Amino acid sequence: MKSIAILGFGVVGCGVAEVIAMNHERIAKRLGEELVVKKILDIREFPDSPFASLVTNKKEDVFDDPEISIVVETIGGARIAYEYTKMALSAGKTVVTSNKELVSTHGVELVKLARENNCNYLFEASVGGGIPIIRPLHRCLAANKVERIAGIVNGTTNYILTQMAENGSDFDSALKEAQAKGYAEQNPSADIDGIDAQRKIAILSTIALDGAYVDPTKLFTVGITAITTKDMEYAREMNASIKLLAVFENDDEGAFAYVAPHLVSKEHPLACANDVFNAIMVTGNAVGDAMFYGQGAGKMATASAVVGDVMDAAEHETRDAHVAEWFEAGDVLAPIEKHHISVLLRLPADVSEDTVSEAFPEISMQPCVYEAEGEKAFILGKEGDMTEAQLAVGLESFENIISVIRIF
Ligand code: HSE
Repeated sequence: MKSIAILGFGVVGCGVAEVIAMNHERIAKRLGEELVVKKILDIREFPDSPFASLVTNKKEDVFDDPEISIVVETIGGARIAYEYTKMALSAGKTVVTSNKELVSTHGVELVKLARENNCNYLFEASVGGGIPIIRPLHRCLAANKVERIAGIVNGTTNYILTQMAENGSDFDSALKEAQAKGYAEQNPSADIDGIDAQRKIAILSTIALDGAYVDPTKLFTVGITAITTKDMEYAREMNASIKLLAVFENDDEGAFAYVAPHLVSKEHPLACANDVFNAIMVTGNAVGDAMFYGQGAGKMATASAVVGDVMDAAEHETRDAHVAEWFEAGDVLAPIEKHHISVLLRLPADVSEDTVSEAFPEISMQPCVYEAEGEKAFILGKEGDMTEAQLAVGLESFENIISVIRIF
């Protein structure tokens, strides 16, 4: 019998207990022994839960129990979860988590601690919810130089953008729905300001760079709060969707990682990911494009990835090779100012085309196929001749800018 504990009985923690109960027999068959949730640590009580008898608020019940060799951390955040994770790993207990904030902030230390204590720190569920991406990137695609990762990695913002595009919903009501469905972070800013996506792309970038740590807080990040229904109108007319993309690129100019809303052609596979679905396209120099698609948030989907990690850990308890060593490597990313982009720029109608040309000298510019009333719209940098730095300088010439959206 393999005993585990769950730390934090929120949406995902509860999902973990439910998945194990639901698939108890097949999990036991696969492992050759029963997988049992022995304790659930939470400061709250859950008298109506079928798992109520397992709930404890005493951390010793988990950390001092030698029978519990695997701990699921679904507390979230980087404070108590950090302390408990260190405590568990130091005691030689493998930790499995969906906590992207903790992994992206303290991954270097925690992976090292796991290796030192001959156990594992596993976080498949931290990116893409139920979609397998960490292990495929680290293992199955290990032979490749990863040239690009482009992903819709936040279910809440994808849900909001889909509702705005398809049903004309306003931003606030779409956010409320996503929260009610259990997709959103406790603090909605983490979703809508792109912080959650920033953490996820930092984790994927670190793996793509063979463990050279990418600090999420240093990534150029734009959220979706400025996206309007008029932007959606432009997208429709351009046969595109607006998606919050988290991107890693590694080319001759260096490695870049960033998060921003993009116009994505409806013909691109990423544009097909709607609602809470996530999609991640990885481009490797041997494999070409590989696409990962599925439910990126929610109780059972995320729990599916967590329990998968638990089973892997149960089968290979002392193997320290699930995650390569992560290490501090200084500034592994090139300055975002050097990154080449193209954008849709919407300006008030009274701005002349000459003024725009002067603001963006020697940069390719063409009028957008569609212009809403009272506006002028341009596509800039389509020839690959504009950097973020040039965009920023050009925009300084205008007092009023209606919107700027990057084009994928
Ligand atoms: N708030 C996150 C999302 C949860 O919406 O994708 C899953 O990480």
